[in-house]
Amino acid sequence: MCGIVGYIGQRKAYPILIKGLQRLEYRGYDSAGVALIDEQQHLNVYKAKGKVADLEAYCEGKDTGGSVGIAHTRWATHGEPSSQNAHPHYSASGRLALIHNGIIENYATLKENLVARGIAFRSVTDSEVLVQLVEYIMVSNGLELYEAVQVALRQVIGAYAIAILDREHPSQIVCARQSSPLVVGLGAEGDFYLASDASPIAEYTDRVVYLNDGDIALLRLGDELHVVNLSGEARHPKVKQIDVTLGQLEKGGYPYFMLKEIFEQPACLRDCMRGRINVDADRITLSAVIDYRDKLVAARRVIIVACGTSWHAGLIGKQLIESLCRIPVEVEYASEFRYRDPVIYPDDVVIAISQSGETADTLAAIEQARSAGAFVFGICNAIGASIPRQTQTGVYIHVGPEIGVASTKAFTGQVTVLCMLALTLANERRTIAGDVYKEMVAELVRIPEKMELALKANEQIERLAPIFTYAHNCLYLGRGYNYPVALEGALKLKEISYIHAEGYPAAEMKHGPIALIDSEMPVFVIATRDKLYDKVVSNIEEVRARGGRVVALVTEGDTQMAKLADHIICLPDTMECFQPLIASIPLQLLAYHIAVCKGKDVDRPRNLAKSVTVE
Ligand code: G6P
Repeated sequence: MCGIVGYIGQRKAYPILIKGLQRLEYRGYDSAGVALIDEQQHLNVYKAKGKVADLEAYCEGKDTGGSVGIAHTRWATHGEPSSQNAHPHYSASGRLALIHNGIIENYATLKENLVARGIAFRSVTDSEVLVQLVEYIMVSNGLELYEAVQVALRQVIGAYAIAILDREHPSQIVCARQSSPLVVGLGAEGDFYLASDASPIAEYTDRVVYLNDGDIALLRLGDELHVVNLSGEARHPKVKQIDVTLGQLEKGGYPYFMLKEIFEQPACLRDCMRGRINVDADRITLSAVIDYRDKLVAARRVIIVACGTSWHAGLIGKQLIESLCRIPVEVEYASEFRYRDPVIYPDDVVIAISQSGETADTLAAIEQARSAGAFVFGICNAIGASIPRQTQTGVYIHVGPEIGVASTKAFTGQVTVLCMLALTLANERRTIAGDVYKEMVAELVRIPEKMELALKANEQIERLAPIFTYAHNCLYLGRGYNYPVALEGALKLKEISYIHAEGYPAAEMKHGPIALIDSEMPVFVIATRDKLYDKVVSNIEEVRARGGRVVALVTEGDTQMAKLADHIICLPDTMECFQPLIASIPLQLLAYHIAVCKGKDVDRPRNLAKSVTVE
């Protein structure tokens, strides 16, 4: 949901800002803009509809000098994508320029008041209200920018990460956050970077400050970072070390980040398990479980809250926790949970799953659970994001930055953490026999190796993909642990190829979707060898009887399915509960290759964003 970036220092700001926007483009890419104060103290703002590359093309030949600037890549909420609605927004006099990520809920009232005082607006965004309000307060009260921002934000309701330039004071940037992420990077020469996440900052410095809600910061060249809260009281910024390598932010020879991230999964899962599973591969240690053992072991119920792909991981978590720990689990869309007035007990454990750690609905669900007295456990990828800071404890999935908008390695990382969590709790609760626990831990450790085997299907899937580019609808079927895999496979296809797809529990097909099946309808079935295998075979027969074309994901050595399905993709065998980690791989590859065949921008699918910081 919009990426923001800023720089103030001795270097030319423009290339740093453009590179930063490229790194943040996963957050939104319908328009982009940059504001720079040049040596003559001119405040130049350039904006373009489209991607960052369109902005660069627009800026060619223009004055992009200056060593202070801010830039923005947008995911529209208020006002269509256009250069007018793109950020930065100028104040009425042209003295200030502002970028904003978030939503200002009381913008209409604020705007009405400002319009009544003769201030003319240039865009239809909620964001412009902020810059007009700040300038109005500066002028009418004779305040400096830093002070005026404090006064202005006290009147603002909503979510924001903002940064503002003042032409009259070119050696400073003022920024602030409330419910939208903002990181400040501290350079070695008194220079500052700021961004929605650490990825645009990582190549310049590893010292960062994650601003907290209500923080307003003054980045003044050659000075220390100053932070105050909304009441103007000084806050002591905590400096953290970040650990992101440049390689993690580059494509490393792959045509798209998504493909790179699919192939990274074996290594990522090893990273995820490293230090948590011992070298003998027979014991899992999660520090979060050690620290909060009693709370977790005594949970009367678990409620998982999440959105999108993370919600699918939650459905797998439900089956794992219920079957291994014998604790009832509910899985909720965070967006519904927050408004549903749910029954929450103090001895409930709420697990919030989120790759970005910034999803607004998940954050609101956490808030609700905490205020009802539940214990909240986070499963997150982005280090230092809001969700790990709002939960009592949790586990990072440690799969490295995920840039492709369609989640792949974060999903398998989340499932791996859920496997480790369920096994650990089951062991503590004595709901699993010691030898079964050890066998399962050993198998979990073998999963990355099996994923490598599953990835070998890439070329076969690349050859298959063109057959399905004609499809308007696809059906994904699975049962048990593979049902969420079917949902996730369908979501991947929808997200990046824009083909309508539905995931269904295979047996439910006959209660509706079967009406859709004809020879134009590809049906992807996860039919691995497990206790429901024979039932899935019957479901495939039903599809075949109606002329449907079946692609079956089967366990290596399955000869029966080869006769039944139009195409089979073989997968290495594993325990039923770990099957999602393997079966997801060919479905990710399938979505990827179909989208590539259709000429789609796989990493930046239309209308989507990776970090959804609005409701
Ligand atoms: C967006 C992303 C999805 C993601 C969902 C939840 O819709 O495009 O890939 O699954 O948000 O995000 P989270 O960061 O909370 O996992």
